[in-house]
Amino acid sequence: MTLPHFSQAMSPDRAHTGPEPGEMRVRTWHLGDDRQSLVLASRNNRLPEVVYWGPPVGGSSIDEIAAAARYDVTGGMQDEIAPLSLSPEASMTFQGQTGLTARNLDGEVIAPAFLFSHEEKQQNTLKLVYQDNGLGLSLTLDLELTPHTSLFKLRTRLDSREDISVDWLAAPVLPAPDHTDEMIEFSGRWCSEFLTRRLPFAPGARVRDNRTGRTDHAHFPGLIVCSKSASNTTGEAYAFHYGWSGGHKMVVEELADGRRHVQFGHASGTMEKGKSFETATLYATYSARGFNGAAVRFQRHVRDHLVAETRQTRPVHYNCWEAVYFDHDVDELKSIASLAADLGAERFVLDDGWFGHRDDDTTSLGDWVIDPRKFPDGLTPLIDHVKSLGLEFGIWFEPEMINKDSDLFRAHPDWLLGALDQTPGRQQFALDMSRNDVRDYLYDHIAAILETNDIGYIKWDHNRVLPVADAGQAEGVYALIDRLRRVFTAVEIESCASGGARIDFGILERTQRVWLSDSNDALERQRIQHDAALFLPASVTGSHVGPRKCHTSGRIFDIRFRAWTAAQRHMGFEMDPRELTGEEVDVLKEVTRWWKDNRDWMMQADILRLDSADPAVTAEQHLAEDGERFVAFAAQMRTSDQILPRPLRLTGLDASATYRVSLANRNDAPRLSRGEPLLKSRDIDVSGQYLMSHGVVLPWRFPDTIWVLEGHKL
Ligand code: GLA
Repeated sequence: MTLPHFSQAMSPDRAHTGPEPGEMRVRTWHLGDDRQSLVLASRNNRLPEVVYWGPPVGGSSIDEIAAAARYDVTGGMQDEIAPLSLSPEASMTFQGQTGLTARNLDGEVIAPAFLFSHEEKQQNTLKLVYQDNGLGLSLTLDLELTPHTSLFKLRTRLDSREDISVDWLAAPVLPAPDHTDEMIEFSGRWCSEFLTRRLPFAPGARVRDNRTGRTDHAHFPGLIVCSKSASNTTGEAYAFHYGWSGGHKMVVEELADGRRHVQFGHASGTMEKGKSFETATLYATYSARGFNGAAVRFQRHVRDHLVAETRQTRPVHYNCWEAVYFDHDVDELKSIASLAADLGAERFVLDDGWFGHRDDDTTSLGDWVIDPRKFPDGLTPLIDHVKSLGLEFGIWFEPEMINKDSDLFRAHPDWLLGALDQTPGRQQFALDMSRNDVRDYLYDHIAAILETNDIGYIKWDHNRVLPVADAGQAEGVYALIDRLRRVFTAVEIESCASGGARIDFGILERTQRVWLSDSNDALERQRIQHDAALFLPASVTGSHVGPRKCHTSGRIFDIRFRAWTAAQRHMGFEMDPRELTGEEVDVLKEVTRWWKDNRDWMMQADILRLDSADPAVTAEQHLAEDGERFVAFAAQMRTSDQILPRPLRLTGLDASATYRVSLANRNDAPRLSRGEPLLKSRDIDVSGQYLMSHGVVLPWRFPDTIWVLEGHKL
């Protein structure tokens, strides 16, 4: 609830003119719920700063909190401490990264001094409008606390009377409270998305400027600020995500005076000159329950509020990419579809290669017309076959891209984004998505395919970084997807970009699934999906059983490890099913059946990352929202240093309840597991307290294997 507090009655005109000399005006605001509080205070009508962010402040007086938060001043300092406001200003002698960096068209730096204009409050939202009348600028700060998921949604908007150019506009700036001393940031690469790195704070700024024009493998726009001792299950954490697909910049700065703050906005150089500028939404939340406290809020928000109109039961996917690549033959695809259906697939996705003359990746992007050489009677015979097996049909597009060897490029070379002689990426170039004619062309061609074929799903790809980083590109693709979704309301969309290079809450507002990574290597996938769970629920996270010998790592893993790894998320298959042995078919069918039996609750469950006592084990627990059941997956990522498996401690259970715990795959114990831990032969009934304090004793096993532990409250 938003509780405004005014330490002095203000008349609107006084609010504009500021205080009389020597007079101090303080305004305060509180935005909070039963999980967190954010307290803002402003002095003398200037921009407000966060004076408290943490557990709910309950009965405390907000004004008293604001007053108590004031720092001392000593030698070598300005006489007044520059506020660390929601948009720190140079005009207040703030000496760190300012919230706005702008120039007029003569190139002169603009240093606004914003004064309060007005505010709008509703139950969970607060809009604060500030102006600098002399410069003709207005700054709007939008704050919202989401009612069920307790995420702050923060946006900044700048309006100018004259055209100006903006180098940097931060979403409302939040402090990293003083008791936090570390940050976890994200990097990565193709086939290794969501790499985390834990760094100590140090004086100066840590800047991540993603100028690729897309979210990118290497720059997931997230951050967790925490104390050294914080873990998945314990300690305090402040988590952030910038929901934007066009490239972001993050600045985490420790000022010379010791204060720390976090800024997110669009990447450098992506905002053009103009009169209005707006950031994307910065999501932020405080957790008193380790990283999981924040992760669960992000997961639930994506699942229940952000992703629109997902058909409830998530179908098992089959994707033909790693089976046939560009080599599309109708009869072969039909027989693959039949085998996939027999394994349990419910959606067949025809990947790259069906259009233009797309026999390899040098040609035809942009020519979204069915290739008559490969599909002489169109897609209908294949679709009819797929549907007769009871599967839905999905299809691959990469709308924003163009090859120079294409009819589209020959007709419209000027539609290319950037210089004609630029270096290509995967032999391809990007279209200028800010152009209406480009978007109309793409809309017409995609719509024609969707109108004339029974298609329920699009895999929407984006396989290169952009030559020019420009917000108009992401806005253009959002507009195109939104237009298609308004007409083809039943079509679900998967966001793919060479795997997981476009995963963010901006694209997830318009899509129902992400292709997390091009790596179907189960071991790599364990790591990637575990770290992605800091933000993503299982229901949107695609995970496929790949070929026996992984195409991106060359490794061979047992089908059990591959199948259970895919079963931890939205499951699918991507190998050529003709390569499977009889035993592999049996295992895959069994795990798929298990997934189908459990998906209804599992796709609605919270993924809780476990603090494994053994660094060789990556483990997570999917806890049903009603707390009645769970499944924990414990992957042995390498051989352990010690010989005895360390008990796996669970989390989030009802301490006083009794749970019946069983191993779903107890027959997978290898012959070298010679002892008799109880779970090898039967279920155990123990309290939640025991499971969380002592943990579960699991049988010994080989590396690259997984235990699947099911629990029910009795
Ligand atoms: C990208 C995707 C793959 C596949 C290919 C097709 O690499 O990530 O899944 O769709 O493109 O060209």
